[in-house]
Amino acid sequence: MPYTFAIASDLHIALPHTVWDSPHRFHLVEFSIPALEVVLARLATLPLDFLLLPGDLTQHGEAENHRWLAARLAQLPYPVYVIPGNHDVPTPETLKTFAGFYRDFGYPAGDRLHYCQPLSPDLALIGLNSNQFVDKNGDLQQIGWVDAEQLAWLAQTLAQLRREGVLPLVTVHHNVVEHLPGQSTNPIGRRYMLGNAEALCQVLHEGGVKLVFTGHLHVQDIAYSDRHDLYDITTGSLVSYPHPYRLLTLDRTGDGFTLAIRSERVTAVPTCPDLLDYSRTWMGDRAHGFLLRLLTQAPLCLPHPVAEELVPHLRYFWADIAAGDAQFSFPQFPPAARAYFENFSDRPPADNDAVLTYSCK
Ligand SMILES: [Fe+2]
Ligand SMILES: [Fe+2]
Repeated sequence: MPYTFAIASDLHIALPHTVWDSPHRFHLVEFSIPALEVVLARLATLPLDFLLLPGDLTQHGEAENHRWLAARLAQLPYPVYVIPGNHDVPTPETLKTFAGFYRDFGYPAGDRLHYCQPLSPDLALIGLNSNQFVDKNGDLQQIGWVDAEQLAWLAQTLAQLRREGVLPLVTVHHNVVEHLPGQSTNPIGRRYMLGNAEALCQVLHEGGVKLVFTGHLHVQDIAYSDRHDLYDITTGSLVSYPHPYRLLTLDRTGDGFTLAIRSERVTAVPTCPDLLDYSRTWMGDRAHGFLLRLLTQAPLCLPHPVAEELVPHLRYFWADIAAGDAQFSFPQFPPAARAYFENFSDRPPADNDAVLTYSCK
């Protein structure tokens, strides 16, 4: 029997009176609730086995936003599974209270933030917590990291599932495979990767995991690691362009599977009927500083005046990356800059609509 599920990521739910009033705000959290409602209305028309929300459920971990979301999810006729994103657990204390908000959505008891949820006799969902805090010279810093206790638990759990012939799906907020060129080393991209992605990918590979669902980057992308024979399917955010969500059908075929992925977008909410145009422009309007850093920092290190000349051509560069399946052409750029930006063109598999197959034979 095919298994049908949906993914909506980085909801960043913000009740209207909690919306941060900052001119530098990059995300359209004022549309978080109406955008979610559009998705839920669409999902109500589908036969759905479950909905997955891979973290950044709330604007910034506000208890009332967690409570609102949990109450809304409780009204749905299908199971929902969540994991914490960095915005959901902004302090060490919130790591202990997160599970309590989501008792029916992956965390039935205790405060442990990893779980293995049976979905059917031959399918299970493993949720991991990738949020940790480290002391950096007296300052607590939040990092993307899966701790040793989880890695040991994961190895054991995967060995058990393999013995039982159960296919594991894994979800974790931070990316585990690079979605952008040089993402692990670039200072801008690095914070979206799990700090110990290599260690996690090793455990996943040894445990026979092929599919990992992530969020955090706010980009539609499917990346494949040859070395670990592993897909990282990251889903863009409902509060940033192009407001996507995914519909997936998984068919087990012998010891393997076929996963068909389709993506849709929230194109309008009641207070913004042209949401896609509005949010693409919003993103373009806020791109200048980020682009200037890309152009003037390593590896390009372009002089400021040259960078300023190129910035207008890149106004929608990030919006196009976020949309997935981008193909870039900058013939008017100096050779090094041209090669650098064109290298962000998407490589297979496709990002929005794809069919991934795996066979043990
Ligand atoms: Fe996010
Ligand atoms: Fe995040």
